[in-house]
Amino acid sequence: MHRHTSSRSLSAVVRGRRSLAAYPPCIRLLSTTSWSLPNAPSTKFVKPTHKFSSPGDLSSKVPNAPLLPVYARPEFVLSHGKGSYIWDTEGRKYLDFSAGIAVNALGHADEGVLKVLNEQASKLIHTSNVYHNEWAPKLASLLVQTTQLEGGLGYAPNHKPTTPPNGLQVFFSNSGTEANEGALKIARKVGKERWSLKNGKAWDTPPGSEQCTKTKIVCFENAFHGRSMGSLSVTTNPKYQAPFAPLLPGVSVGQLNDANALEGLVTEDTCAVIVEPIQGEGGINMAKTEWLVQLRKRCNDVGAVLIFDEIQCGLYRTGTLWAHSSLPVEAHPDMLTMAKPLANGYPIGAILLRDAVANTMTPGTHGTTFGGSPLACAIGHHVLSRLSDPGVKSQIKNTSAYLVERLQLLTKWFPQHLQPTVRGRGLILGLGFKNPEVPAKIVALARERGVFVLTAGKDVVRLVPSLNIGKEEVDLAVEVLEGALKAL
Ligand SMILES: Cc1ncc(COP(=O)(O)O)c(C=O)c1O
Repeated sequence: MHRHTSSRSLSAVVRGRRSLAAYPPCIRLLSTTSWSLPNAPSTKFVKPTHKFSSPGDLSSKVPNAPLLPVYARPEFVLSHGKGSYIWDTEGRKYLDFSAGIAVNALGHADEGVLKVLNEQASKLIHTSNVYHNEWAPKLASLLVQTTQLEGGLGYAPNHKPTTPPNGLQVFFSNSGTEANEGALKIARKVGKERWSLKNGKAWDTPPGSEQCTKTKIVCFENAFHGRSMGSLSVTTNPKYQAPFAPLLPGVSVGQLNDANALEGLVTEDTCAVIVEPIQGEGGINMAKTEWLVQLRKRCNDVGAVLIFDEIQCGLYRTGTLWAHSSLPVEAHPDMLTMAKPLANGYPIGAILLRDAVANTMTPGTHGTTFGGSPLACAIGHHVLSRLSDPGVKSQIKNTSAYLVERLQLLTKWFPQHLQPTVRGRGLILGLGFKNPEVPAKIVALARERGVFVLTAGKDVVRLVPSLNIGKEEVDLAVEVLEGALKAL
């Protein structure tokens, strides 16, 4: 591949990019890569700082609304936010160290996002996908060119962005689960065409004649791909799946990093393999690079389409554009799905795919009413432009290094509760607990001390803060975790 050796920033390279100077300086650039570490756990937050009414005695501010009770929410109502902080209607302030759930990459009420949102909303919120709009092509081009420059989907880092952008294509949806539905559908169609080519028969033969068998899908234990029927079929959690069975037939479940099982798992009948390079909901479990190379090779051998779900771990959460950007191209997927932070909380999702699989799709084979709206794509373009700035990337690197060091100290100070290794990388991190009942308690204890964190998998507290946090937010979050661990 042609290499691009210039050290110019992305914003200088990728055409159509707004100048960063046009936006308020809400990303604090750091001058240091290391801060001093404490030598004992803080005792500041052993006692709760936030008082709540008891469950069952809901405050009058909690609406008694006819909402489907699919969430067990705590008894307060969130009203507004700024940066990494969020307030409830009673005036209590929290550090949102979960960024929604890995969504608000630039924090709450970001001025640059608001400016784009207001300007675009006053011009054009929606057009049907029967017509072109100004922003979907710009965001698609930026996704393709940024991927070429930073690495992913077969491009090693520093590839010169192609002008006009080509080699990869984009489909916009409104959520993560929809992006995965689309990816699975595309892989099905590719599988049918590959089967036809190999067997010299049409895949849409009438009943009675030989039917296409290349329709099976492979996923992995502890995966989370979404709640709609197709995505749920590859979300291997009985709690989520069992009430809604039967799901899609022909789904096989493997284990992350089990190389020996690959040959039996991924076969000539497999059309799609879907995997998170770092499992988020499932417990911050990392796929090993060597295993991803082996998985890629097995997909090549049998003609299966490899899909990476980077809905939680992508878009700079690990410090690089994609979680797989820094991996060898031999580990790269054919398709990638993204959503959560792309428009900083405004709903959007997308599939990014190589031409070789994209070319199967023709007018009418897939569609959406809302996906790719001018408003979602204008915001997405702004957010991606901001996140890909080199200053932001180095801030993520520095903050992550400090946060990991502080979490490592916790594993030493609280060995009775914590597993010895901090999970994840960048700003998708997890603390593993020895007792699976403790993470939910820690989440509640942290909330009573004004910090939002999440559980993941069976035994993990998950940290997926905004990507522009600094030392102050890390210190507060970790001191509260220290207080919660002491209070257990
Ligand atoms: C890895 C992954 N895939 C898919 C989804 C589903 O995304 P959405 O809730 O936007 O449908 C999620 C949501 O948490 C996710 O973390």
